[in-house]
Amino acid sequence: MAPKVYIDGKLYEKGEARISVYDHGLLYGDGVFEGIRVYGGRIFRCAEHLDRLFASARAITLEVPMDRQALQDAMHQTLAATGLRDAYIRLLVTRGEGNLGLDPHACPTPSVIIIADSIALYPQEHYEKGLELVTVSTVRTPANVLNPRIKSLNYLNNILAKIECLQAGAHEAIMLNQEGFVAECTGDNIFILKDGRLVTPPVNAGILEGITRQVVMELARGAGMEVLERNMTQFDLYVADECFLTGTAAEIAPVVRIDSRSIGDGRPGAVTKKLLQMFRDYIAASVG
Ligand SMILES: Cc1ncc(COP(=O)(O)O)c(C=O)c1O
Repeated sequence: MAPKVYIDGKLYEKGEARISVYDHGLLYGDGVFEGIRVYGGRIFRCAEHLDRLFASARAITLEVPMDRQALQDAMHQTLAATGLRDAYIRLLVTRGEGNLGLDPHACPTPSVIIIADSIALYPQEHYEKGLELVTVSTVRTPANVLNPRIKSLNYLNNILAKIECLQAGAHEAIMLNQEGFVAECTGDNIFILKDGRLVTPPVNAGILEGITRQVVMELARGAGMEVLERNMTQFDLYVADECFLTGTAAEIAPVVRIDSRSIGDGRPGAVTKKLLQMFRDYIAASVG
C-alpha cells in the first residue's frame, strides 16, 4: 500500500515524484490545495472540495488546467494505484514553472499534483483524553491582506501559530483575528457548546470555511440542535460547557483545556462524543 503521486497526467512512486524548483508553488507559495479524505474507496464530500479548490484558484486568478470530472478521475486513478480504501488525498494546483520573478504570467502552465497516501490518524489518546489548546499571539491573516477563505499553498501564518503552541507544550493553537475574536486553529475549525447550543465563528471572522465544519452543522441541525455562527471571545471559550475542533484529518476532536483552564469538567464532553458518533455513522452510511 505505497503512496502514489500524480503530476500532470503521470503517476509516480513517492520517491520518484519531482517538480521544478522554478515552480512558483515552491518559490512563492503561489498555488492552492485541498486535503481530502477517502472512506471505503469513496472521496468524501468531493463536490465541496472541488468547489472550494476552484474558488480558491479563481481568487488568485489561477486557471485550473483540468475540469472537475478530470480532477475526480485523476484522484480515483491515483487512489486505485495505491490499493488503499481509506486514504488521504492532497490535491494541489501550483502556478507552475516560471522564472525567479513574482510575475505569475511568466508561468504559462499550472501543475496539478495529487498525492494519495494512508491517513496519519491522530493518536487515539487525543480523542479519549481531549486536546489542550493555547491562544497564540500570531493573529490570523486578515481577509483584506490574504483571505483565509483561500486555501493557498502559503501556510506560514498557520505554521507560526503552530510553532508557538508547540513551544508552549500545547496540542493546538487558537488564532484570534485582528479584532480579537476567535478565528480558528492552525488546520481546524473550532466549536463550543454553551447552554445546549453549538456556536462557531462565522466565515467573516476570517476563517477557512471548513467542510467538516459544514457537515457537523448539518448533522447537529438535523438532530434538532441549535447551531449559531457568531463571533466569540476568549471569555466564551473559557465559560463553554464543551469545546471541539473539526477538520478533514481530525474529524471531531474534543478540547479539554484552553490556556491552562479546564473546559467544562475537563473531560471530553457528552455532546462532542455524540457528534463524533453521528459523524462516523454518517460516513458508514455514505460508504454503504
Ligand atoms: C486553516 C484551516 N482551517 C480549517 C480547516 C478545516 O477544514 P476542513 O474541514 O475542510 O478540512 C483546515 C483544513 O483544511 C485548515 O487548513
